[in-house]
Amino acid sequence: MSNFQDSTVLVIGGSSGVGLATAQLLERLGAKVTIASRSLEKLKAAKRQLSDATQLLPLDITDSAQLQALRDGPAWQHLVISAAETPMGSLAALADDDARRAMDSKFWGAYNAAKYIPIADQGSITFVAGYLSLRPGKASALQSAINAALEALGRALALELAPVRVNTVSPGLLNTELWAGLAEDKREAMFDTVAKRLPVGRVGLAEDVAKAISFLIDNGYTSGSTVFVDGGGRIA
Ligand SMILES: NC(=O)c1ccc[n+]([C@@H]2O[C@H](COP(=O)([O-])OP(=O)(O)OC[C@H]3O[C@@H](n4cnc5c(N)ncnc54)[C@H](OP(=O)(O)O)[C@@H]3O)[C@@H](O)[C@H]2O)c1
Repeated sequence: MSNFQDSTVLVIGGSSGVGLATAQLLERLGAKVTIASRSLEKLKAAKRQLSDATQLLPLDITDSAQLQALRDGPAWQHLVISAAETPMGSLAALADDDARRAMDSKFWGAYNAAKYIPIADQGSITFVAGYLSLRPGKASALQSAINAALEALGRALALELAPVRVNTVSPGLLNTELWAGLAEDKREAMFDTVAKRLPVGRVGLAEDVAKAISFLIDNGYTSGSTVFVDGGGRIA
């Protein structure tokens, strides 16, 4: 029997990309998964790729009142936070409101989720950051800072929330719905360019990151860790 058998997992951001792939993998391993995101339509569409037992939770991680409402509910065994909507751009180009919105979504959302969502003592929290924390690009100062902050938050909360284990996965470029807003030719050109630079010769998939999240949840001797799933991007 797998260690996940009947363990309860809340995946915030579970309607797409890394979150959905994680929900699929953990269900295959026997977990009871609840997926959360803002759009009920997206959650329902995602459920078609999951089991009948999957629970759906409409939730906006930037609304701390919605997170506080979960405080008195039953504790989950494991919490995974892959939810984020982060406008990107250089210091000069990104509007102030967009920059704040990115931090609200990816950093403060994860911070408040860790603060308010009850997790069982033998449980875990896994954040999803990004390799720009260590390998900034010319127009990625904000993303780099948010990801570094999230990785630091994970290390610090591993002490504060113990015995709950807190870890972070930091992906490189992934072929997920996150890039759906880019024109297909631009998206493919970006993937090609990055794949050529990476030691592994390809961009990542949501499933690559889901495997790392599953490892961190399952391994009771990991806490305060950051696992890079970046195709070697931070050293290339
Ligand atoms: N894809 C990449 O290349 C890449 C690279 C490095 C790091 N990352 C990071 O990996 C994480 C997951 O990215 P992904 O590629 O899986 O993105 P994705 O496919 O766009 O999925 C994002 C998920 O988050 C949910 N979400 C967004 N804002 C939310 C909010 N305020 N409250 C609740 N749910 C929210 C979305 O659903 P709703 O719209 O229904 O809310 C969706 O389920 C993000 O933190 C991203 O920055 C991604």
